[in-house]
Amino acid sequence: MFKKEIHKIRLMPSGQFFHAPRGRVLLEALFEAGIFLRTDCGGKGRCGKCMLKIITADHSEISPPDRTEQEVLGKRLVDSGYRLACRLRVCCDLVIEIPENSLQSPDIVRKGTVAPFLRPPFPVSEYPPRGIDTYALAVDLGTTTIALYLCDLVSRAVVASISVKNPQAIYGDDVMSRISAIAGNHNTLARLQALAVRAVEWGAVSLCRSTNIDPEKLKKMVIVGNSVMIHLFAGEDPSSIGICPHKPLFVEEKTFSAEEIGFDLSPSIKIQTLPLISGFLGSDIVAAGIATEIENSPKGTMLVDLGTNGEILLSAKDGFWATSCATGPAFEGATISHGMHAVSGAIDGVRIDRRTGEIVCSVLQYDLDKPKKPSGICGSGAVSAVAELLRTGVILENGRFNPDIHFPNLRYSDSGVFEFELISGENSQTGRPITLTQRDIRLIQLAKGALRSGIELVCRETGIEQPEKLLVAGAFGSFVIKGDALTIGMFPGLFEENIEVVGNAAGAGAILSLFDRGFLSRAKKLIHAIKVLDLSSHPAFQETFISFLPFSK
Ligand code: FES
Repeated sequence: MFKKEIHKIRLMPSGQFFHAPRGRVLLEALFEAGIFLRTDCGGKGRCGKCMLKIITADHSEISPPDRTEQEVLGKRLVDSGYRLACRLRVCCDLVIEIPENSLQSPDIVRKGTVAPFLRPPFPVSEYPPRGIDTYALAVDLGTTTIALYLCDLVSRAVVASISVKNPQAIYGDDVMSRISAIAGNHNTLARLQALAVRAVEWGAVSLCRSTNIDPEKLKKMVIVGNSVMIHLFAGEDPSSIGICPHKPLFVEEKTFSAEEIGFDLSPSIKIQTLPLISGFLGSDIVAAGIATEIENSPKGTMLVDLGTNGEILLSAKDGFWATSCATGPAFEGATISHGMHAVSGAIDGVRIDRRTGEIVCSVLQYDLDKPKKPSGICGSGAVSAVAELLRTGVILENGRFNPDIHFPNLRYSDSGVFEFELISGENSQTGRPITLTQRDIRLIQLAKGALRSGIELVCRETGIEQPEKLLVAGAFGSFVIKGDALTIGMFPGLFEENIEVVGNAAGAGAILSLFDRGFLSRAKKLIHAIKVLDLSSHPAFQETFISFLPFSK
């Protein structure tokens, strides 16, 4: 029988509809239509956040929920017609209903809280902006998280900011998985580009709506990111970065019209990407370097930008040295069982009373009028929890739970996983306990091992024992508790006063580029002075990595 290639997806109760090709994962089809669901697990079918209700469908066409989906949703929801959008393929016309909780809610920050570190500080404008009429967007396009800053070009102020999960995660958590996805299917490049563009557009619409700014007044957008992200955004194939010698197709800055890039929101907007250094060192570390004025910092200053990749830039005697290490997305709260990015409701710090065993978690709240119960743990929260578990002896230096300790919160879950409960089901937003598993601890351990190896090998290359001063950047870097990071051995043995947490410096650099005409020439000058250390082919990497796996200082 003839099967339609395009199906109609109708959303209830609004009755709006869109079309999606047969075989497309429903979550991706929704993203492409500009409907952003929560995807805390990156579309892996683990978090249950993308659930929606199927109202009408041809059930002879839809595959029934598999075991994972049944486990995540539970019998009651499955029997009521709920499915996970990331597990369901479009194979017939559908009428669906998306619960409010499944939609990404824009966590917009208007004042200060996550405004990036800027030197000299730029004002964050009062809301409503006093505003004049020309606005621009600075975008830090990360592998896991996209940060957007709405800027007033006249008053040179950040009006509001938002972070959005990168929907490309459904094609893999890291850049190499996304490159592999392209190799397997020649349509994937266009789909990855569309996902990034739709996510940036969704963030831009949310920012404009919340500040009553007409999107037509957006005149410019500057995008920074790692080299693969920038290639994907530009619609260029990043495959050459995936194979030795990891050469990008281009390193220079590029300018696009909104139409060229498929950006529907504001047709007159001019979109610019900033120059890259190499295949694994993108414009994000360049922007971060300029924002933190690394060019003028004393020798021995090291900037570490922590995202899904850890990028390291050292001001050395003979110029600048840079490298990139694969830390994975754990520092951004992705891939860990109850991980989430640093938005309201995320646990960002943990303390355990040695005497009573009482656990106190600090929870991020951007809107104090509407405080949220904890719903997950962000990267800095995970590092803080691991540090406390080490201090209390619940985990050992090798990263394993201590079999000889009795602690009421350490137990086997219903599914047989050994885990430590931080928040009980009654006290969490989702009704499910928030826990840290052995696997989560392992992910933090691997990330810190990769980072320390990068720091160590750059120092060795330049003949210094360790950096004199460390600038820690990235969304993770905004909230990390220095003492906790030192306890798990993330950083060399510096005094806390020699570690400066500088927030999203890449985002700050993107903002600065909107305000400062000299930015591009400074960026090019810095790139010219940088020598790149390639860890992927470094003979001492493996041995160094293994030596830094234990949680020792
Ligand atoms: S279960 Fe679908 S995104 Fe997590």
